[in-house]
Amino acid sequence: MITPGVTPQWLHGMFSRIAPRYDATNTIISAGLDRRWRRHLAHCAARYAPQVVLDVACGTGGVLAHLARSCAATTQLLGVDFTEAMLRVGRRRHGTVAHPHRLHLCVGDAQALPAADRCIDVVTMMFGVRNFDCPAAGLAECYRVLRPAGHLCLVEFTWPRAPLLQRLYSVYWRYVLPFLAWPLCGERAAYTYLRDSVLAFRPQADLTALLQRSGFTAITTTTLSGGITTLYDAYKPDTPLHVVGATGRAPQPKEISS
Ligand SMILES: C[S@@+](CC[C@H](N)C(=O)[O-])C[C@H]1O[C@@H](n2cnc3c(N)ncnc32)[C@H](O)[C@@H]1O
Repeated sequence: MITPGVTPQWLHGMFSRIAPRYDATNTIISAGLDRRWRRHLAHCAARYAPQVVLDVACGTGGVLAHLARSCAATTQLLGVDFTEAMLRVGRRRHGTVAHPHRLHLCVGDAQALPAADRCIDVVTMMFGVRNFDCPAAGLAECYRVLRPAGHLCLVEFTWPRAPLLQRLYSVYWRYVLPFLAWPLCGERAAYTYLRDSVLAFRPQADLTALLQRSGFTAITTTTLSGGITTLYDAYKPDTPLHVVGATGRAPQPKEISS
């Protein structure tokens, strides 16, 4: 586990308790930027014209809502999360969208995904990998379920590059956020955890290296909101890694502006 002392059981209990307030709290503490980040992620996935997208650690289905707008009407959208209470909020939300028949949410562990090998065109993930007991195992599962030449598009918190923004951001995370989030989500420990997990996971290079070790290539990163978050786009080679030469690399997608 990335954050010392935190177990998957504790995490599951915490997300179960805050599920009804999760979306509102996120939007307030990020000043609405979370929606923008989800939109970027959905656009990234939609560029590959996928027929099947799996959103891992989908929570209340916020990314899926953006995918439903960005992808073709025929695209199957699947969501997996290990917290039933988060999925319940998601089912209520998606019960009101135009094409509920193409959306499926199911309970499952990101480190043992309930999907066959090579059946997904694009895997998306936002604020998931940082929470996993073993991030490498979660990424290996994304790799397993992706079809050859598929993409993993994910957004995770990083750290701003500008020194002044870094200082302000550090003060916000360390001192302001837990006290702001506590009354909003009703659980101070939840956002103390958020702070600790982000601070532990922040070096951007770590995630790129982790993606490479999982077998992904042609990894591009797009800095969002001055570096508060980063969008990663990683390619699963269409031939096994040991025979991939220069020709096994995917064409680079266009840069997305933040
Ligand atoms: C910070 S929330 C992110 C939710 C959503 N992706 C979003 O953009 O709002 C993290 C989610 O990861 C889920 N999660 C954490 N560990 C998991 C695991 N091992 N397997 C499946 N879901 C997991 C939690 O239940 C929670 O819903």
